[in-house]
Amino acid sequence: NRQPIIAIDGPAGAGKSTVARQVAAKLGLLYLDSGAMYRALTWLVLQLGISFEDQCAIAELASQSEFQLVPEVDPESPQRVWINDQEVTQAIRSIEVTSQVSAIAAQPAVRKALVQKQQIFGQKGGLVAEGRDIGTQVFPDADLKIFLTASVQERARRRQQDFEEQGQPHISLAQLEQDIAERDRKDSTRKIAPLQKAIDAIEVQTDGKDVAEVTAEIINYYHQRL
Ligand code: C5P
Repeated sequence: NRQPIIAIDGPAGAGKSTVARQVAAKLGLLYLDSGAMYRALTWLVLQLGISFEDQCAIAELASQSEFQLVPEVDPESPQRVWINDQEVTQAIRSIEVTSQVSAIAAQPAVRKALVQKQQIFGQKGGLVAEGRDIGTQVFPDADLKIFLTASVQERARRRQQDFEEQGQPHISLAQLEQDIAERDRKDSTRKIAPLQKAIDAIEVQTDGKDVAEVTAEIINYYHQRL
């Protein structure tokens, strides 16, 4: 008898991480950021100078690597991430990792290895898991599935604000919109586990809503279900 699982999927920049962290904190559940695992692996591949073509070496690295995701006490801060005992919390948010991660995440053997690790992490339940394929592949039996969306314009605005808050160099909205649209295209057209709304997922549109509103909406659905 496992504890409840909430799956939150959706495109880049829809606010999944912020919302998933808040929902987890409010309900006293664990939080799993699956994207952080794809990012950490991408960081390691770049670090080791392994060619993206070398799918065998990358698959091996994916299954042998140890990922540690540790929540901060403050639900506002992102969780800290380690891969093979190296902390990569900040490094995995770089523009380089962000622009390359989709290519790594599209490799079937990588997905197989990371999905398996995510399933082990969640086998007892009691968590909010966030990503692209949580409700469809990782936890298809999740108790509540949310598909979080926002327009490309809204998502670009939020990314720009994030970058500003992190003191990163200014990037134009046009550039960000283009990057987001491109990542959407890659994530939703790839052959294996494309970004797709599960048939039993509830779509939550977040344009013009703040984090508290979206969080409350999801918690409402949760109480209706459980
Ligand atoms: O959510 P985040 O933007 O950190 O995810 C980074 C990338 O990892 C996504 O653009 C996608 O290519 C990949 N990803 C995935 N499946 C997941 C989570 C992330 O393919 N469950």
